[in-house]
Amino acid sequence: MLTRFKNEAKKLRGILYHRLYTSKRSEKKLVEDFNKHYYDSNIFEGTWRNTYWLKVPTFKCPLDLWIYQEIIVDMKPDWIIETGTARGGSALYLASVCDLVGHGQVVSVDIEHKEGRPTHPRLRYFLGSSISEEILAKLHALIPVGSKVLVILDSDHSQKHVMEELKAYSGWVPKGGYLIVEDTIVNGHPVAPEHGPGPMEAVDEFLSKRKDFVIDASKEKLLVTFNPRGYLKRVE
Ligand SMILES: C[S@@+](CC[C@H](N)C(=O)[O-])C[C@H]1O[C@@H](n2cnc3c(N)ncnc32)[C@H](O)[C@@H]1O
Repeated sequence: MLTRFKNEAKKLRGILYHRLYTSKRSEKKLVEDFNKHYYDSNIFEGTWRNTYWLKVPTFKCPLDLWIYQEIIVDMKPDWIIETGTARGGSALYLASVCDLVGHGQVVSVDIEHKEGRPTHPRLRYFLGSSISEEILAKLHALIPVGSKVLVILDSDHSQKHVMEELKAYSGWVPKGGYLIVEDTIVNGHPVAPEHGPGPMEAVDEFLSKRKDFVIDASKEKLLVTFNPRGYLKRVE
């Protein structure tokens, strides 16, 4: 009883301090400013360009990787499809989390071959464009119908390409599962205003036509994310 009272008091104290120091408006600005600072900071040779998983470059915000871990533990996907491998850090991270969970395989697709990508028993790479018929056929041949699939789109960040990916990959995602559109933060949301229509615009276009996916804003709970409005949950 006393412990419960103490815990409630701690929670209330947190809420009170939070409201004392930050208004809703300043909180939004603080988060936005920090996102911008984090994305562009070069104090220590960059942040996301200087982030490693087991020594492999991983072009992600670690807070998003934490959310990935939570999704994987909850969803226990049979397969994770990642488009956009780069050096393989995020693919290795996903395979490592599958290993900890004791379930799941990862397939990562990239248009470029790069020497020295990490190997892992749960990870394989496909070489080719994520929207090519050849790659889609290979994925269909590999992944049995009815598998629980988590999809992460992190390849070409133009609106057109992401829209094509959303069309091609959304069908893999089961009800209750996730399709993550990476880097919705670009094109001024709030970083890289020069980018041009990108992942966020593709999400808007996709959701204007589809009612079976919704934005799960609860996945932005850690405040700093490269994927604002990019965690899409399948609801039907
Ligand atoms: C943002 S990086 C991926 C980062 C990686 N997921 C990580 O977190 O470390 C984008 C990658 O997408 C690849 N790419 C570009 N166009 C592509 C396409 N049409 N199909 C597949 N990959 C593509 C690029 O070669 C590049 O390696």
